[in-house]
Amino acid sequence: MAERSQTELPDYLKARDGRLAIDGVDALKLASEYGTPLYVFSEKRIVENTRALRQAVERIHPRVKLCYAAKANSNMAVLAAVLRAGGDIEVNSGGELFKAKKAGFRPDQIVFNGVSKTDDEIRDAIHYGVLATNVDSLYELDQIARVARAESLRANIAIRIVPEIVTRSHIGLQTGLLSSKFGLSPSLLEEAFNRALAARDAVNLAGVHIHVGSQTPDPQPYARAFAEMWRLLTDLNEKTGHRLTHINIGGGLPIDYLPDTAMVEEIGDRERNMLSARLDAGEVIAAALKEAVEADEKGLIEGLTVVMEPGRRIIGDAGLLLTRVCNTKERPETGDTWLLTDAGYSLMISMATYKWYYHLVSASRADMPHTAPYKVAGPLCDSGDVYFDLENGGRLPNYRLLPEGTDVGDVLALLNTGAYALDQASQYNGRPRPAVVMVKESGEVALTRRAETYEDLISFDRW
Ligand code: LLP
Repeated sequence: MAERSQTELPDYLKARDGRLAIDGVDALKLASEYGTPLYVFSEKRIVENTRALRQAVERIHPRVKLCYAAKANSNMAVLAAVLRAGGDIEVNSGGELFKAKKAGFRPDQIVFNGVSKTDDEIRDAIHYGVLATNVDSLYELDQIARVARAESLRANIAIRIVPEIVTRSHIGLQTGLLSSKFGLSPSLLEEAFNRALAARDAVNLAGVHIHVGSQTPDPQPYARAFAEMWRLLTDLNEKTGHRLTHINIGGGLPIDYLPDTAMVEEIGDRERNMLSARLDAGEVIAAALKEAVEADEKGLIEGLTVVMEPGRRIIGDAGLLLTRVCNTKERPETGDTWLLTDAGYSLMISMATYKWYYHLVSASRADMPHTAPYKVAGPLCDSGDVYFDLENGGRLPNYRLLPEGTDVGDVLALLNTGAYALDQASQYNGRPRPAVVMVKESGEVALTRRAETYEDLISFDRW
């Protein structure tokens, strides 16, 4: 890899014999054995990320639930690795709840979110006895109570709040705004608490929840969210004597998507700040607790569990996408050399929707300087299927820097594609979704999702 970027890459990626190695396993060998495109995950990295996060937070507050946001990547092998590493889980649908149960998460490890839950989903969550179903509206509060009563069971709930907290993330990733679709408005909270307490027979009001958004670059929104929830918790206790048992501060811890300083110059300020954020989870919680919990005469902090819902921070930098250059062309008019790969936005949709930056390196020529500019694009039949900002918004660099001479047959690696890529992948353009492999802690390579076939493309259709 170019010297400039070498120290910045996750330490499970190294150049070995001139080729990229993932936890010591040759990327080119993986590409020829399993084909490209290919999602590759490092089990070691998932485990390290999960443990590091838990330790950082537990140093500040001993009672923590680290509910991995399954939407970031719900491959069963990923869920199993998170569970083994001591993670809990957040689910956002009946399907994710099903997967969490299959992976072996206990009820008290599961938080269930969602803006539009069905009776069936709620019933499943109540029967399993999850830690909390997070309530997204007054309507849903009544719905949960109704479903619980019909089953003669009691649902654990937390109220999801939107406190109008702005972050410096992408607007599509901000969820603490009154203009967003999430959670209960501040003016309706008293009513929600009263209704929940009146429905004691059917619901156990256990906590409050705020998720300010994803890839949140600064600690302040978390501190504000925590302070807001602490205020509600103490108010409620004062007025009714009711004691909440958890505060859920949501997900959103960022990862650094910009390891290569040469690229940074080309990306607009706003995107740069967001994409290169580094935020220590321990510091976030420390700042939040310090600000909020000044006078705690009743000792409400004792017995309080802090719930977090990290997705990206656990899986984002533990995965990469290998892709092969299948075609190349010169444009004498613009002086550009194009490289056409086999990985389009159908495998990393955020690159198209949010113009998300995934750093690209050569796996075939890993130790060569990455200094030659190329226009890079995927195989789909859209002009928008390019690795730059077609709309010229300055959100992605116009060129990708790769080794001189990069050509058809070379394998490239899109880094930090562990989160929100595989789960959002589609078969667009009749392209079977690729295989997924995981380099296990033992060093073995496990196929954790088989490649789809052409037959798979038609297997759900009826005609
Ligand atoms: N908790 C809740 C309630 C969430 O909605 C999310 C993410 C998380 C936790 C996890 O956030 P994280 O720690 O991963 O930042 N499709 C988008 C990402 C959407 C994130 C949605 N919610 C993308 O492609 O980037």
